[in-house]
Amino acid sequence: MSAKHSLSLSARDPLLLDAADRRELWSQLEGLIENFISTIPHKPVVDEMTPPQVRELLVGVDFSKPMSPADALRLAADGMSRTHVQVSHPRYFGLFNPAPSTMGIAADALVAAMNPQLAAWKHAPFAAEVEQLLIRALGERFGYNPRESDGTFASGGSEANQTALLTAITAKFPEWQAKGMRAIKRQPVLYASAEAHHSIHKFARLSGLGLSAVREIPVNADLQMDVARLKAALREDRLAGHSPFLVVATAGTTNAGAIDPLPEIAAIAAEENLWLHVDAAWGGAAALVPELRPLLNGIERADSIAFDAHKWFSVPMAAGIYLTRHPEILSRTFGIEAAYVPPKAEGVSDGLAHSLQWSRRFIGLKVFLSLAVAGWDGYAQTLRQMTAVGEELRRALAAADWKIANNTPLPIVCFTDGRSAHAEAAARLEKIAQEVVGSGEAWISTTRIGANQTVLRACITNFRTTQADIAALIQSLDKARARDASQ
Ligand SMILES: Cc1ncc(COP(=O)(O)O)c(C=O)c1O
Repeated sequence: MSAKHSLSLSARDPLLLDAADRRELWSQLEGLIENFISTIPHKPVVDEMTPPQVRELLVGVDFSKPMSPADALRLAADGMSRTHVQVSHPRYFGLFNPAPSTMGIAADALVAAMNPQLAAWKHAPFAAEVEQLLIRALGERFGYNPRESDGTFASGGSEANQTALLTAITAKFPEWQAKGMRAIKRQPVLYASAEAHHSIHKFARLSGLGLSAVREIPVNADLQMDVARLKAALREDRLAGHSPFLVVATAGTTNAGAIDPLPEIAAIAAEENLWLHVDAAWGGAAALVPELRPLLNGIERADSIAFDAHKWFSVPMAAGIYLTRHPEILSRTFGIEAAYVPPKAEGVSDGLAHSLQWSRRFIGLKVFLSLAVAGWDGYAQTLRQMTAVGEELRRALAAADWKIANNTPLPIVCFTDGRSAHAEAAARLEKIAQEVVGSGEAWISTTRIGANQTVLRACITNFRTTQADIAALIQSLDKARARDASQ
């Protein structure tokens, strides 16, 4: 080797850093994480800043003057802990974003360090088998036969729902794979409740089906899909010469935690030869609690299920899961040959033939380590506890004259002000939510349910949330309501 190209082993590589720097960095990182976890309950849930204030935190950064590892890490940790909505806070009553499990945090760090590539089984056989084991074990909780189920890990519920749409099209319109939408003679249509997650609409648009292929089925008073309206829509579409192919039922809607009537929808799907997908992104965790499991009865008949471990299962983002009882459908949908992929191992499938993603990180490890340490019973206990805290939230709100607007056994409450004649005026409820958030005492939001009714929304997303946090939220809401009434 010429002198010009020789490697100097003693030089400090700016990406690897040297061993002493690395040891210091890990110890700093460990301190930052532990400090964050132990002090977060005593800090504001969010300290809202203006865009210029946030940019100010980055003003000193100049990539032509490299920073020390310690300064760089401190800058990032400081920026995130000062400006983010702290979804790890016990008084974050927000949007299905959990406090992450400790084993999940450790798993993500380990995965980042070892960086296994899950595109090919041969590249990461342990990781691939861990994910397969989880897919069988979780599928079994939903009632799938582990010998016949399959699935894939995904970036989140959106990708899992997109996977469902793609597998449903593949199953029902085999000609689509080669020739695309133009090969489908009759307009394919799909059905989801008016409360379904909008990833369904997004992917109907992106897949080439078009938004007009989505039938939003109205909901009943409990915000569940109205089955009679589903049947009527199917009748109309068949008469119009369309081709119904998919029904999406939701088990735990984003707005209000409603669970669609799964057995009835499963029966209709069977009669009408529709692919049944259940979006259980959040509510699916109920399958781990014996006394809540009956809420999901019928889910075992679903052709596919979306379940997000980064929601109620409490692992760090991103961890979506797509499950199916049709073991061949994923490879039919995503299978592809490429010369640069390592040769296939016997009797296994490669990740890239199961997923939209090609290079893929080891998403399953955070689920595996969390479940391995908590066990089914540990998870059941935690989820049961969170459900009880949700009941306490519902009780305490009603006792303080907030009017409950949804009906679900899951820990999510939609409500309006029961004391004011203008209780449901959207602007007033939005102002109350903003005041609570602005105080830093808690984080809640508003949403619109049913016939466009604005409501306040609070969800138990955190296994550390206690009765004292509920009391603090009610106090904060009451203060905002009183301030608003006096103006
Ligand atoms: C019912 C439901 N499905 C799907 C999604 C999308 O999940 P993700 O944000 O992980 O893509 C959400 C998100 O909140 C959801 O509530």
